[in-house]
Amino acid sequence: MKEKLEEKLKEFENIKIDSIKKLDDLKVEYLGKKGVMNEFASKMKELSVEEKKEFGKVLNETKGKINDILEETKTKFNEEELNRKLENEKIDVTLPSTKINPGSVNIVEKIIEELESIYISLGFDVVEGPEVEKDLYNFELLNLPVGHPARDEQDSFYIDSEYLLRTHTSPVQIRTMLNNKEKDYVRIICPGKAYRRDTDDAQHSHNFTQMEGLLVGKNVSLAHLKGTLDMMSEKLFGNVNTRFRPSGYPFTEPSVEYDIECFKCHGKGCPLCKNIGWITVGGAGMVHPNVLKNCDYDTKVWNGFAFGFGIERIAMIKYGIDDLRVFYTNDLRVLKEFNKREVI
Ligand code: PHE
Repeated sequence: MKEKLEEKLKEFENIKIDSIKKLDDLKVEYLGKKGVMNEFASKMKELSVEEKKEFGKVLNETKGKINDILEETKTKFNEEELNRKLENEKIDVTLPSTKINPGSVNIVEKIIEELESIYISLGFDVVEGPEVEKDLYNFELLNLPVGHPARDEQDSFYIDSEYLLRTHTSPVQIRTMLNNKEKDYVRIICPGKAYRRDTDDAQHSHNFTQMEGLLVGKNVSLAHLKGTLDMMSEKLFGNVNTRFRPSGYPFTEPSVEYDIECFKCHGKGCPLCKNIGWITVGGAGMVHPNVLKNCDYDTKVWNGFAFGFGIERIAMIKYGIDDLRVFYTNDLRVLKEFNKREVI
């Protein structure tokens, strides 16, 4: 029986195990309940006690050997499988990565954000309003009744007789005044798009971005307005001289144009300021009493100032851009260039 067992072991050792399946089958065949080794064990009852002892030892050793071979082969298979996987999923960390082109903030948006943070620091709220606006808010309540000649200056896109594309963001100021009567003051800026029937060229666009500001309170003066705009200019353009020039807007009285001294030539005259030495930033003035009255504010108690300017214009001044169209033609090279450039 011992010889037979040795024979079986030899036989086993000669088997070529070439797959996991084969390995599992052999395990059952040799070490399973009804397997070869158990067959030998069941035959042990035919042996004497002495023989039993000796054969039992050999049988256990044989079982151990078979088990070792099976385990080793299994480990080998697993390693091979792992290596195959690693080989297939190999990542070459030295390969150059895919280039990701991060976007950048459009220059108009950048200026808006800059202005917002300046005015928020002064306690102003940022308010937005609809671009399709009522004639009532865009003109009428702003002291621009039907037939007023100044309406022609803001040639408009009418939707119907009641609605138009807003020609400025001033209607947001009207909406805010109408909604805030119970407050002690109104202090807002309103950035947003505005539309006018202009022929697009280097200096004009039918669609541009504005930011207007409004402060309604008690004992507000032109000096407050100047101080506010001066602070903005200093933050935007650095330490420059500024001035008010008389102007005329239906919604402000008095009305002014707000200029900064040309930061390129410092007043001497250059192409940037068209040899004037000054650059106009925007319009402003004290809120016209009619506008306050239209919004139900008692003009004996309340007064205020308002200002407005084109964001593209500020960007052009700040970044030395001479053609408004670059803001919306989306030439990536130009947009990238802006992001690097800080003229002042
Ligand atoms: N609403 C004016 C415009 O669009 C700008 C402005 C605002 C002027 C407030 C004076 C006061 O031209």
